[in-house]
Amino acid sequence: MTNSFLDKAYKVKGTKETQALYDAWAPSYDTEIAKHHYVTPKRTAQALRQFVMDSKTPVLDVGCGTGLSGQALVSEGFDVIDGLDVSEPMLRLAEKKAIYRDLILSDPGLPLPRGFRAMAAIGVIGIGGAPISLLDDMIESLAVGGKCAFSFNDLTLRDPGFQDRVDAMITEGYVFELLREYGAHIPGKNLNSTVYVLEKL
Ligand SMILES: C[S@@+](CC[C@H](N)C(=O)[O-])C[C@H]1O[C@@H](n2cnc3c(N)ncnc32)[C@H](O)[C@@H]1O
Repeated sequence: MTNSFLDKAYKVKGTKETQALYDAWAPSYDTEIAKHHYVTPKRTAQALRQFVMDSKTPVLDVGCGTGLSGQALVSEGFDVIDGLDVSEPMLRLAEKKAIYRDLILSDPGLPLPRGFRAMAAIGVIGIGGAPISLLDDMIESLAVGGKCAFSFNDLTLRDPGFQDRVDAMITEGYVFELLREYGAHIPGKNLNSTVYVLEKL
């Protein structure tokens, strides 16, 4: 029996519950996640970097949380990163890492900032997290030719709604798939994830 936030996270439903969970988890998020090794940020940042050559291209880190994803983006050589999240306590911790140019407290009902040529949603969309409509919003606001990197964990991959939406976007000619790669997510919890990079057409 465990009461960890990580286990609880996969059971929450809806934006309000998700936001409340991350508000409460914020102070212990980095420590708990580090204990189980969280490798998806590194994998996703590396994947995005393969297709975004200019290190000065600003990246919007959607669902930046406490900034672990931003740190991974910095490690891969991205110089300009803006972070966006629905949880103010998570954002306050991201600010302390002093790696973001700008941090935005977002409202899921409002459109995302437009014109970015690179975006990431690392460990954000899926079961216990943001709905698949966030991916539509990201692609909608991305510049044409822009790249969007994101991950789905094993629990999310088991729900066909998420991957089916990605496949439909590709079939509809809305995006081009540059990369889809299955690998480690949180090895300490025996979880894997698929990392995707899409280009907006
Ligand atoms: C598992 S954390 C991942 C944080 C960070 N990307 C990382 O890799 O450590 C998920 C984050 O997504 C945020 N989130 C959930 N739904 C969201 C939404 N609709 N829009 C923006 N952020 C959202 C949560 O508040 C939380 O900070």
